[in-house]
Amino acid sequence: MAAQRSSRALRLALRQASAPRVQQRTFISAVNAASRPAVKQAAVSSFVQQTRGAKTVDFAGDKEKVYERDDWPRDKLLDYFKNDTLALIGYGSQGHGQGLNLRDNGMNVIVGVRKNGASWKEAEQDGWVPGTNLFDIDEAIGKGTIIMNLLSDAAQSETWPHIKPMLTKGKTLYFSHGFSPVFKQQTGVEVPSDIDVILVAPKGSGRTVRTLFREGRGINSSFAVFQDVTGKADEKAQALGVAIGSGYLYKTTFEKEVYSDLYGERGCLMGGIHGMFLAQYEVLREKGHSPSEAFNETVEEATQSLYPLIGANGMDYMYAACSTTARRGAIDWSKKFKDTLKPVFEELYDSVKTGKETQRTMEYAGRKDYREAFEKEMEEIREMEIWRAGKAVRSLRPENA
Ligand SMILES: NC(=O)c1ccc[n+]([C@@H]2O[C@H](COP(=O)([O-])OP(=O)(O)OC[C@H]3O[C@@H](n4cnc5c(N)ncnc54)[C@H](OP(=O)(O)O)[C@@H]3O)[C@@H](O)[C@H]2O)c1
Repeated sequence: MAAQRSSRALRLALRQASAPRVQQRTFISAVNAASRPAVKQAAVSSFVQQTRGAKTVDFAGDKEKVYERDDWPRDKLLDYFKNDTLALIGYGSQGHGQGLNLRDNGMNVIVGVRKNGASWKEAEQDGWVPGTNLFDIDEAIGKGTIIMNLLSDAAQSETWPHIKPMLTKGKTLYFSHGFSPVFKQQTGVEVPSDIDVILVAPKGSGRTVRTLFREGRGINSSFAVFQDVTGKADEKAQALGVAIGSGYLYKTTFEKEVYSDLYGERGCLMGGIHGMFLAQYEVLREKGHSPSEAFNETVEEATQSLYPLIGANGMDYMYAACSTTARRGAIDWSKKFKDTLKPVFEELYDSVKTGKETQRTMEYAGRKDYREAFEKEMEEIREMEIWRAGKAVRSLRPENA
């Protein structure tokens, strides 16, 4: 595809895509950061300030309340959790990001992990001190009032029979994924009936949760209530969402969070896009194009030029930044791709909802050799021609020279 790299529109787009995103702190500043007057006008007039500071935003005709950091300034958070001990169980990607953000926000937070496991060592490296704010899992749960279960989803199921009796009345159980309680038939995670059960699910890896917090921004997260025995579960979830480093919080249910998450990562976010890259690349190679040409036209231009434009200002903006030739063909073919792929997405959603995907995940993660099996698959991907070509293409970038 030939994008008009010299066009004024593209230069403007690139400037915007690379503008410091720290400016986009609130909905107002995010909207102001967009250059198109029509969009600016529409978005600014589409939200109304609520008394608590939450905003009702018009998402394409669907009015939804969005909660943000400003609703929970630090003093309010400290006061709200003044009698709580937040026991963060597990110190993987989310444990690291959420835990450090909670600590920096001044919360009374402790970490509970297997003694002398990989996470224990990582927690020590991050400054958690054994016996002070780093404990084994049982001790941390015993001390905690809010138990943040950030074990891997498979481990949540495996450890549940042991953990459940420790979740006594008065405690709150927190997850970052609806996986365990929603698919309780498979996971066995039947929550006690006398505790609040809530969720905050950051829309990104724990590393991003941490990076965005350190940049003074915040990740988008969804939050939900599975069980509300105190009448305060909803506000507790919002407050925790801000305390762990979320910028904006969108309300959902445990079911919707887990269905959309499992569906999205298997679809456009990871599996679908990988499949589409492979299909396009293979045809180019079969038609006699070189690996570098096939890679540049499939992955490099997508990730380095066009997808950032979609991310910055939307699909129409990306189209507008490209040549008439590219635009005409892309819009025409998008319909065929959509019609062809929609049945696959329908099949995928059903596979998620019926628990087939969960079952497969549990079986896979439950295998003793799953780390080796995973590494073998990564090795196979690394060794695919497309990704070897990509490595060579990336090596030419100035920062890698
Ligand atoms: N990663 C993401 O991008 C992401 C995004 C949003 C939500 N979430 C959700 O956040 C939660 C945590 O995910 P994560 O990616 O941070 O976790 P992870 O890296 O998969 O979890 C690893 C943690 O689980 C512990 N663990 C594993 N098996 C164990 C066992 N049998 N007994 C005790 N501890 C065990 C590990 O401890 P050792 O080091 O001792 O093995 C480690 O601390 C999940 O519910 C996930 O779905 C993740």
